[in-house]
Amino acid sequence: MSEVISQAFCSTANLGAGFDTFGLALKKYSDKVHASLTTGKRVVIQVKGPYSDHVPINVQRNSAGPPALALSRLANLRRGLEIIIEKNVPQGLGLGSSGATAAACTKAVDHLLGLKLSNNELVRVASLGEKAVSGSAHADNVAASLLGGFVVVYDDPVKTISIRPPENLSIVVVIPTLPRQENKTRLARSIVPKSLSISKTVLNIGRASAIAAGFATGEIETIGSGMLDEIAEPNRQRLIPGYQKVREAGLRAHAAGVAISGAGPSVIALVDTNRYEPGSVAKAMTSEFARNGVRSRSVISTPAPAARIIKR
Ligand code: HSE
Repeated sequence: MSEVISQAFCSTANLGAGFDTFGLALKKYSDKVHASLTTGKRVVIQVKGPYSDHVPINVQRNSAGPPALALSRLANLRRGLEIIIEKNVPQGLGLGSSGATAAACTKAVDHLLGLKLSNNELVRVASLGEKAVSGSAHADNVAASLLGGFVVVYDDPVKTISIRPPENLSIVVVIPTLPRQENKTRLARSIVPKSLSISKTVLNIGRASAIAAGFATGEIETIGSGMLDEIAEPNRQRLIPGYQKVREAGLRAHAAGVAISGAGPSVIALVDTNRYEPGSVAKAMTSEFARNGVRSRSVISTPAPAARIIKR
């Protein structure tokens, strides 16, 4: 087998109350990874594509590196690996860019080396890539990119539950134009409180349960009813000028729920397309950002399928 090429879509994490627990794959952007064996002994990474600027090629600092190394060790590989990343997912927006790369790399190398890992094992390996980039091996984005649709990640070691989202679910992503922030996810994680009161914990457990139940039953209103967070959003919203007003504008325009996408600064709104128009929600939210002095743009997505091998 000479070269394997995989594709993994971007994702939004948390969905409000599901901090580090929920992920939803988005069909808007995807990374591709070409993996092949070399005669050397090392893992070598190259990056190309529209969003390759600022992506490190150092194996310890690129989210593809640690998964590739872990899989090589698992397979007892005596040869080197070349990983070429086609970087099509924009970085720093809260759309799981590093997670999409880690997922695509894990999928490709697992296939190349014939490991046939289980979904849970793939997610655990891919999350090593997130650790390299943000300092924490959270698995929500990588799980969504690997498994597609809506995922719940829980427990230690991580387990996953995958649910196919309702067909009439549309995801509006509003992307504010804010100064580029080095190590944005690391910063956004550093301001999450270290402890939480029981009353706030109970609120989040209830809302997160509503989100999971809504995906299981296909009820978009139920999903939206849980999209309010007590863990990360209270502190993170100050990184997004006008966030509360934009959230309210989205809800007034009939979004079922609005939340910060992952570590931000993008904001997502879930819309039931059987009843409402995602374009109107997008317009209401970008106009509200403008009223708060922030330029923004929007993209509208549907849920994405699982990572896949596109060439073997
Ligand atoms: N769950 C993560 C966070 C996603 O909110 O920090 C960002 O990668």
